[in-house]
Amino acid sequence: MQPGQAGQPVQPGQPDGAPPVRIAIAGTGNIAGVHAAALRGLPGAELVGAADIDRPRLAAFGAEHRLTDLHTDLAGLLAAAQPDLVHLCTPPALHFEQAGQCLAAGASVLAEKPPTLSLRELDLLADLTRPGGPWFATVFQHRFGSAAGRLRALAGSGVLGRPLLAICHTTWFRDQAYFDVPWRGRWQTEGGGPTMGHGIHQMDLLRYVLGDWAEISAIARRQARRTETEDLSMAHVIFASGAAASVVNSVLSPREESYLRFDFEHGTVEVSHLYGYRDEDWRVTPAPGHEQAVLAAWPQPTAGRGPQSPAGPPSGHRAQFAAVLAALRDRAAPPVTLPDSRGTMSLVAGIYASAFGGGLVRPADLGPAAPCYGRMDGLAPGWEQ
Ligand SMILES: NC(=O)c1ccc[n+]([C@@H]2O[C@H](COP(=O)([O-])OP(=O)(O)OC[C@H]3O[C@@H](n4cnc5c(N)ncnc54)[C@H](O)[C@@H]3O)[C@@H](O)[C@H]2O)c1
Repeated sequence: MQPGQAGQPVQPGQPDGAPPVRIAIAGTGNIAGVHAAALRGLPGAELVGAADIDRPRLAAFGAEHRLTDLHTDLAGLLAAAQPDLVHLCTPPALHFEQAGQCLAAGASVLAEKPPTLSLRELDLLADLTRPGGPWFATVFQHRFGSAAGRLRALAGSGVLGRPLLAICHTTWFRDQAYFDVPWRGRWQTEGGGPTMGHGIHQMDLLRYVLGDWAEISAIARRQARRTETEDLSMAHVIFASGAAASVVNSVLSPREESYLRFDFEHGTVEVSHLYGYRDEDWRVTPAPGHEQAVLAAWPQPTAGRGPQSPAGPPSGHRAQFAAVLAALRDRAAPPVTLPDSRGTMSLVAGIYASAFGGGLVRPADLGPAAPCYGRMDGLAPGWEQ
């Protein structure tokens, strides 16, 4: 068996002789397996323990990933494993309380999305973080494919001109059975529908490239699923730069796609994927007269002719974890720390605020007194269709 395959322990690996980062996982369900696999063989990482209230699941996870420090409660894990970092892979409603527990114990937190259920919870956690750690960061893995980094750098360099228009569509399909898991599809446990739980990845990438938003007008609907939350939202978002975006979040779309398109003055950059992209999923179309500059900055495959970009890492958990570990090695803040996660959560909150309150929403409308600050549906159970 090759190192890095399932059943092999996560290799600490210490490129610069520094001790590996001791990592524990809370919640050993679906996504935890992706975390453990992504950590496997990553230099500088050592998976040291896990916790889950479900004993059989925890035991199976321990056996698969060769972990013996297993606990049925987070407090026990924190005390025994003394991790530097906890990956929170529990259901969303637990993130706030469990992150608080970890931070109070001196362990940094890398929380699965959504980081918390509300802006209020995020702001409360901010008080427990410190610049040198412990810190709180969110898993938004689509920032970490090489193409996203290239696009952000080019957008900042001026090569592409001003951003004018963007499309950010998360058109996924989840049948009714998907919502049988008790925490799904409810405001108090999932915090929202596809806007909060699915499209948040694409919206985070949209914001990563275009920056702060300025105005939102949106609708949310329950078209077909028996859920408390929306199963569809549609928003028009104006960014501080003046760029306008169409944002669609759906779990009703049989032909599934995650589609992002950026129309800059000098070229269109677009990606179509589902749960993760590679370099070759991106396409660049220069505007007339800008071919040379744009294609020099972002070479396109040309059937064996001409320059090509070397293929970089695809988006995914492993790419983000590598970036987190690199930041820790450099004693820098890891990517997607709390203030940065807050920007994406405020975009989500803005969509709900407009959908439930009606009309145009600006960031200043989402302060502590705003209904959508404490809960994404703004305590608007009147939202019945
Ligand atoms: N980044 C991504 O692409 C991605 C994909 C899927 C899910 N997620 C997120 O990951 C998180 C988990 O989702 P999932 O699909 O793995 O859910 P899941 O239900 O499969 O797993 C959650 C696990 O947490 C355990 N748990 C519940 N209460 C606990 C407690 N008090 N302490 C410890 N463990 C506890 C459950 O027993 C379960 O094993 C959610 O926030 C979800 O939105 C992210």
